[in-house]
Amino acid sequence: MAYEIKCSVCGQPSENLLDFKCSSCGQPLDMQLLFDFKLEKIFRNRYDVWRYATFLPYVKKTEIITLGEGWTPLIKFSENVYFKLENLNPTGSFKDRGSTVLISALHKLIEKARGYVSEDSSGNAGASMAAYAARAGLRAKIYVPETVCGPKFNQIQFYGAEVTKVAGSRARVAEEAQKVEEGKFYVGHIFHPLFRDGIRSLAYEMVEQLNWNVPKSVYLPVSAGTLLLGVIGGFKHLRDSGVLDEIPKIVACQTEQVSPLYHRFKNLSYAPPEKITSVADALVSTNPPLLELMVERLKEVNGDSIMVSENEIIGAFKELAKKGFFVEPSSAVAYASYKKQLEDGKTSKDDPATIVLTGTGLKTILRPD
Ligand SMILES: Cc1ncc(COP(=O)(O)O)c(C=O)c1O
Ligand SMILES: [Zn+2]
Repeated sequence: MAYEIKCSVCGQPSENLLDFKCSSCGQPLDMQLLFDFKLEKIFRNRYDVWRYATFLPYVKKTEIITLGEGWTPLIKFSENVYFKLENLNPTGSFKDRGSTVLISALHKLIEKARGYVSEDSSGNAGASMAAYAARAGLRAKIYVPETVCGPKFNQIQFYGAEVTKVAGSRARVAEEAQKVEEGKFYVGHIFHPLFRDGIRSLAYEMVEQLNWNVPKSVYLPVSAGTLLLGVIGGFKHLRDSGVLDEIPKIVACQTEQVSPLYHRFKNLSYAPPEKITSVADALVSTNPPLLELMVERLKEVNGDSIMVSENEIIGAFKELAKKGFFVEPSSAVAYASYKKQLEDGKTSKDDPATIVLTGTGLKTILRPD
């Protein structure tokens, strides 16, 4: 076997690609790769996530469901700063990397069982999963909080997904989505290890597009942690395969309001606000199920975490737009964090940095002044 999926807490192996949590203790599952990344195994004539199909061994090459995701531009913003334009993915965010991999791996199994996919998200992940289910010809049911509205919710519905509104907390929405029902296959992006694993491709691209060099640091906005864990997984694979000598400094960027990882990482106590009002409306996980795993992995790779204020986020969002980069306020959190680290002397203008711009500004609910 080229890979093993195991519980991140008790180590119990999972034999079924449909499993989304440990059958023994209920904790998150984690992908372990038992093969090396080899440059000669890249499909050099493909310019999407599937350029790295060899390194996603649980997907049959004949069963790939794609909308052209990945191989997004890495462009030079200033002397030493690069932007990875994940906003240019087919549904407008990095989530498409996870969805293409997860749906490609599972759609035949679900189709055979005449089933449908279930996901809980009113945001980019919901939109992305709805799009890839549509592309695969699968029915999708997306569970959302009752209060949902805005462009992402419209997008979910236009892709043809069925929507179920759930009253109560975000955890209640997840519970409903996971509730066992005839024909239902839960593919929730936060729990499912294949979704996170698809995001590994982002690390491969960042390095290949820099001609197999690494930036000194990489800035990522963090909420549920799929982006962070996926990218760390990719860099670790490259290092363990001998492609890289070291992993860049991974900086996990959060908002002051939603900063459970920042606080845990710095050994500080965290009290979430009663109501989240941040402009970074995609970053809402105050109690993420993957928190322990995030802390462990971020420490393992000697990463860092930072949080930024609303003013800093809005300033970064506006500055990016005025320079031609119209991204979500949640994505601007990473740029705001970079600027703050420059100010604090934690990084220098001479050190190469890559900032991942995770989602398109066309989905924002903000209005111009
Ligand atoms: C635009 C955008 N950026 C960043 C994130 C954070 O990703 P994660 O939840 O995987 O930490 C999200 C998650 O919804 C998002 O939509
Ligand atoms: Zn377990």
